[in-house]
Amino acid sequence: MTNKIIQKWREGAGKVYLPEELDEREPLVREILELKKQKNAIILGHNYMTPDVYHGISDVVGDSLELARRSKESNADIILFNGVHFMAETAKILNPSRKVLIADLKAGCSLAESMTGEDVRQLRKKYPGVPIVSYINCTADVKTEVDIICTSANAVKIVESLASDTVLVVPDGYLAQNIQKQTKKKIIPWPGKCMVHELYTEFDVDVARKSFPQAKIIAHPECKETVTAKVDFTGSTSQMGKYIRESGADQVLLMTECSMGDNLRAEFPKVNFISSCQTCPHMKKITLEKVRDALRDEKYEILLSDDTIKRARASLDRMLAVV
Ligand code: 13P
Ligand code: SF4
Repeated sequence: MTNKIIQKWREGAGKVYLPEELDEREPLVREILELKKQKNAIILGHNYMTPDVYHGISDVVGDSLELARRSKESNADIILFNGVHFMAETAKILNPSRKVLIADLKAGCSLAESMTGEDVRQLRKKYPGVPIVSYINCTADVKTEVDIICTSANAVKIVESLASDTVLVVPDGYLAQNIQKQTKKKIIPWPGKCMVHELYTEFDVDVARKSFPQAKIIAHPECKETVTAKVDFTGSTSQMGKYIRESGADQVLLMTECSMGDNLRAEFPKVNFISSCQTCPHMKKITLEKVRDALRDEKYEILLSDDTIKRARASLDRMLAVV
């Protein structure tokens, strides 16, 4: 069984690494697979993990929505979340009785860091009665204060599910712009930004179109509205793969984090991926070595108070009831 997993890992990661780089990493991967068995652990991996972490050692890979949902389906004693801190917190909120680990506590997120629970309380005072939707890229503290959570995969649906004609959308100002394009409701944004996706400009799209007229250009909704207005498809990280599959595209340019294209290369060997990627320094903090150490030493555990879990869970459950 392990040899089969290793073979699949070599095939997937082999789209990006040289055979000697795979040889160097293979013992670590074997160690992680063994520790996973010994500890009855499950590994969840976000689509932005590097190919060596994404392939083979992950039991479930996906976007934020899929990982949140799937985390609830396992009966493992330990959930190791390979992604950023707010994602591991979300897994803890949804699975309070399990030990939830992240391999590096410093794997943060510029969006999650742009807003505090106190900021949300101030917004409530300023806009009494206006519902507050928070993008899942926020701290547990913010999740306790808002009415409902959304992800990049369901943001418009969540906003449309609310009775009010005016909705506050936090903390991603660009996601709010992209929602505004698709709803008649008035969206009030918060000025948070993803440090990776904010780097893309309209000019980048124009240059890409001119240089690669046949390519399908795909962006994440954390990009500015002026960028998403010009691309062929905008969607969550998992929706990007679905779009490539369904559109039959043979040349693709992704305006998102670098590992996305690297990982999709394994799924779509015939598609020509043109690199125009940006690196998320937070996602890149998760390495095979740190994953091995985290499982071996059962660190770093996500700990939240019962009250935080209860209140943050309510806003996540409201989202999960809609989608
Ligand atoms: P997805 O939910 O689309 O995977 O996005 C998470 C994220 O952090 C993108 O920057
Ligand atoms: Fe946060 Fe942007 Fe990194 Fe996603 S890519 S984790 S939104 S900083």
